[in-house]
Amino acid sequence: MKPIFKQTKLSAYEAIDEAQKIAFAPLIFQAVRTMRELGILEQLEQHKAQGVDAQGIAEALGLSLYGVETLLESGMSCGVVELNDEEKFTLSKVGYYLLHDPMTRINMDYNHDVCYQGMFYLDEAIKSGRPSGLKVFGEQWETLYQALPHLPEQVKNSWYAFDHFYSDTAYPAALKLIFAAKPKTLVDIGTNVGKFTILAAQYDADVHITMVDLPDQLQNAIRNVSEAGFSERVTPLGMDLLDESSHFPPGLDIYWLSQFLSCFGKAEIISILKRIAQIMESNSTVYILETCWDRQQHETSSYSLINTSLYFTAMASGNSKMYHSRELLECIEAAGLELEKATDNLGLCHTLFACKKRP
Ligand SMILES: C[S@@+](CC[C@H](N)C(=O)[O-])C[C@H]1O[C@@H](n2cnc3c(N)ncnc32)[C@H](O)[C@@H]1O
Repeated sequence: MKPIFKQTKLSAYEAIDEAQKIAFAPLIFQAVRTMRELGILEQLEQHKAQGVDAQGIAEALGLSLYGVETLLESGMSCGVVELNDEEKFTLSKVGYYLLHDPMTRINMDYNHDVCYQGMFYLDEAIKSGRPSGLKVFGEQWETLYQALPHLPEQVKNSWYAFDHFYSDTAYPAALKLIFAAKPKTLVDIGTNVGKFTILAAQYDADVHITMVDLPDQLQNAIRNVSEAGFSERVTPLGMDLLDESSHFPPGLDIYWLSQFLSCFGKAEIISILKRIAQIMESNSTVYILETCWDRQQHETSSYSLINTSLYFTAMASGNSKMYHSRELLECIEAAGLELEKATDNLGLCHTLFACKKRP
């Protein structure tokens, strides 16, 4: 495996400095998020290069001087807040992106609302192979996907914003590729709220779509498809794909799995793909849209993907992750499928794997 991340030779002093950044990372994360939430970053931006003192921010926001000073000092330590020549506080370029970049905001909200509390149980999750952090939302669920429709509104909103932000960017390019062969039938496996199903129904006026998800989650998709006016061409099919006796509709043109296989461990992925291989025809295509950390254009994308794996470990399933493409290709092979084509760089960070049944 080639190194993706810079491996710089550091002095002992530099190394201990980096180690402290990691040791304090959870606290700094909360300090910066709190500054964003309370309007401190916005105050800094409004005062531009001339800057503002802590008292000015405290008065404008009705916060204590103590609280504002504590947060600004933390912000200075991590490069979000700067001091100008008049010793006034200003917003750094990093702070600007924390305030305005949609991806950064979505990642931060997701890490706070969905992951933060449960991440405390990461060690337990690693030892048990179960999503031990999920207990912060209730003890009754095996996976986050069973819990999803029942989670508090803010947690759900942050989860959906994160999920949609990435897949939304890849859908337009993927639709063009998969509809080039004029498919008549498609099954959207792990349809979630039905976003792709609706886009596909809009893209092609003749295609018939089956959408599959866990029964509770499927209710959202059914409602959205009905509101979009596509119920006549869309058939909902509620099932738990971890149940090995569950089977897909046979002989369809396209089996579509977007950001879906990363929800499962490798043995489960092979089982799901095998069940598809058993019922597909030689002219059917399995399309897998995934975010593989080894196929990214930017180190930052690989960094974000690799660390999203920790959500799968502690919160979602205990055995799934953002895979290296080699791991997915091994599963494809083991299931009796063969790769026809892999197309990289769809949207922000996706690869589309087109697979056929192995003759
Ligand atoms: C990460 S979301 C992907 C949503 C969408 N396909 C996309 O591209 O954004 C995974 C979806 O798979 C569904 N899912 C997870 N485990 C499942 C299972 N065991 N059986 C059926 N669906 C499942 C979840 O409910 C969720 O809607």
